[in-house]
Amino acid sequence: MILITGAAGKTGRALLQQLGLHQRPVRALVRRQDQIEQVLEKGATEAQFGDLLDPQSMTPAFAGVTAVYHIPPNVHPQEERIAENILRLSSQHGVEHFVYHSVLRPYIRSMPHHIKKAHVEERLFTTGIPFTILQPAAYMQNTLPYLQNARTDGVFSVPYPIDTPMGMVDLDEVAEVGALVIANADHYMATYELSSTEILTPEDIAEQIETAIGKPVEAQEVDLKTWRRQALQTGMSRYQVDTLLKMFRYYARYGFWGNGYSLSALLGRPPKTYAAFLGRLDF
Ligand SMILES: NC(=O)c1ccc[n+]([C@@H]2O[C@H](COP(=O)([O-])OP(=O)(O)OC[C@H]3O[C@@H](n4cnc5c(N)ncnc54)[C@H](OP(=O)(O)O)[C@@H]3O)[C@@H](O)[C@H]2O)c1
Repeated sequence: MILITGAAGKTGRALLQQLGLHQRPVRALVRRQDQIEQVLEKGATEAQFGDLLDPQSMTPAFAGVTAVYHIPPNVHPQEERIAENILRLSSQHGVEHFVYHSVLRPYIRSMPHHIKKAHVEERLFTTGIPFTILQPAAYMQNTLPYLQNARTDGVFSVPYPIDTPMGMVDLDEVAEVGALVIANADHYMATYELSSTEILTPEDIAEQIETAIGKPVEAQEVDLKTWRRQALQTGMSRYQVDTLLKMFRYYARYGFWGNGYSLSALLGRPPKTYAAFLGRLDF
């Protein structure tokens, strides 16, 4: 049995769909009643309640589990404590394979949600559990909420300069790799960067959205003060907002992209381009 944490989230749902295609027995760890139907619909064999911050609540979910795919909650202040809980339970239950959903370049100290993942990777090395670490770039799917705005106002806005070089990856391809490596000894002790081969600036992205929707779209930089105010209004926590601001400052200074070689090798085909990703959507 494969256990997936964070199963009802954006990444978890994509992974469940891929594992469902291969009819693998999967238990989804969720924390709310309404998430059960969601994960079963996506392809989980069963669902179990558990709070990632409360090891006792998760103990029943580990019964009969041989492989764990740990998806940490997004930009969470206690990401390291959560990973420690999952790793301890995995050791206690004799888990044979642990897949850690990390991030591209976790070692960057000025991005707290990245360096926390580097610490978890380091801790994972000490457990003795065979592991696989996946380090995805930013998902192409992150741009979806902005497409509506591009259609209505003709603007694609980002909180960093519009000439910042960025790399992205299709979440469905990340999930395809997740389903390929889990419980597969060929990938024990491996760390894979998962990125497309493209480097695109927000200006390039706006141009591609323009082509896809057939309407003029302009890239626009939102200043960080405005972004912060709007983000707090949506109910994001201060920790999340401040962490994301640090990430945007890093992007503005250095850009952020990876290399598509390992993803290409794992998929057996070139990674999806952003244009192909847009081409799949209904406008
Ligand atoms: N987005 C990207 O571009 C990207 C790229 C590379 C790596 N990543 C990494 O991928 C990971 C997952 O991101 P995501 O966007 O899939 O996150 P997400 O959609 O927020 O999913 C996280 C899931 O964890 C659940 N959760 C949170 N706290 C919990 C707790 N205490 N107990 C039980 N469940 C809890 C959430 O439940 P609720 O819905 O109830 O909160 C949600 O279902 C993150 O660590 C992120 O850094 C993301």
